[in-house]
Amino acid sequence: MGSGKGYGKTILFGEHFVVFGLPAIASALGSYTKAEVRVVEGKGWEVIDQRLATPGYKEKKYDEAMQSIKNVIEHMNIDVGCQKLEITFSGDLIAASGVGASAAQATSLARAINDSFTLMLDDEKINEAAYEGEKAYHGTPSGIDNTASTYGGLIWFVKNLKGGKNIIEIPQSGKKMPLVIGNTGITASTVEVVADVRKLKEANPVRFEKIFSVYHSLVIDAKVALLEGDAISIGKLMNQNHKLLQDIMVSGELNDILVDIALTHGALGAKMTGTGRGGLVIALAENEEVQNKIANAIEAEGYDAWKTMIG
Ligand code: MEV
Repeated sequence: MGSGKGYGKTILFGEHFVVFGLPAIASALGSYTKAEVRVVEGKGWEVIDQRLATPGYKEKKYDEAMQSIKNVIEHMNIDVGCQKLEITFSGDLIAASGVGASAAQATSLARAINDSFTLMLDDEKINEAAYEGEKAYHGTPSGIDNTASTYGGLIWFVKNLKGGKNIIEIPQSGKKMPLVIGNTGITASTVEVVADVRKLKEANPVRFEKIFSVYHSLVIDAKVALLEGDAISIGKLMNQNHKLLQDIMVSGELNDILVDIALTHGALGAKMTGTGRGGLVIALAENEEVQNKIANAIEAEGYDAWKTMIG
């Protein structure tokens, strides 16, 4: 048997912008998906999905998950004509829109296959296999989710739009900061939302150019603030990033409601994270007391809230 982990992620800055070659910053979460691969008699593969999930998530993503698993197996050249893979997914990452659940699944599978067949692949190759899996979920993923899932920690990521190597830096943050993740409970389709943004951009090129330019200086400032551990500036920049995401029409009503709850309960900054139109929001807190306050306020309104540290 082989096993492997893929970490969940949260995008601190730059979802959607990253698809167009702008830099983005993500942080891997401590929670992960674990894959176990057993080679048994037969052919093909079978999945036992024991991950905890937001209601409806697994059903909505079922076809994409099956295609993703197929992509990873094929990319890794595993012959399933004369042997069968029994694949079990588990772990403490709750599968939800926005937490990098698809990337964590693909990464954990790539690592488990690597382990099971003693392929000796390095992280770069694992990341490439996980990216193939992500294609089933995103169509044309930027690659930031699988990169955060593979490498862990903080990631500065710039997609190479010409198809060459992406820029991946692992900055060392000045300090660990408490974060709250609020779950709208809505599962969004990344393919659809990414396609909508592209259409909107094509219809409004000048407006998008301005938004991209504002975002570009924002993300440079965010990198500096993260390196310095300057939580106040990071919070302000998160708020500005959320406004830009509203401008490109990817924040949903519930995202905005959860962001407001977080801000009125002391968050230094808050924004939607990931695909948007549902999924998750993140809120930065100056200490654990405020973190608890924000999480309790979100839960009091009937939404799940998780606490983690970034940096
Ligand atoms: C989804 O987690 C992040 C998006 O930017 C899509 C991508 O980067 O592929 C919306």
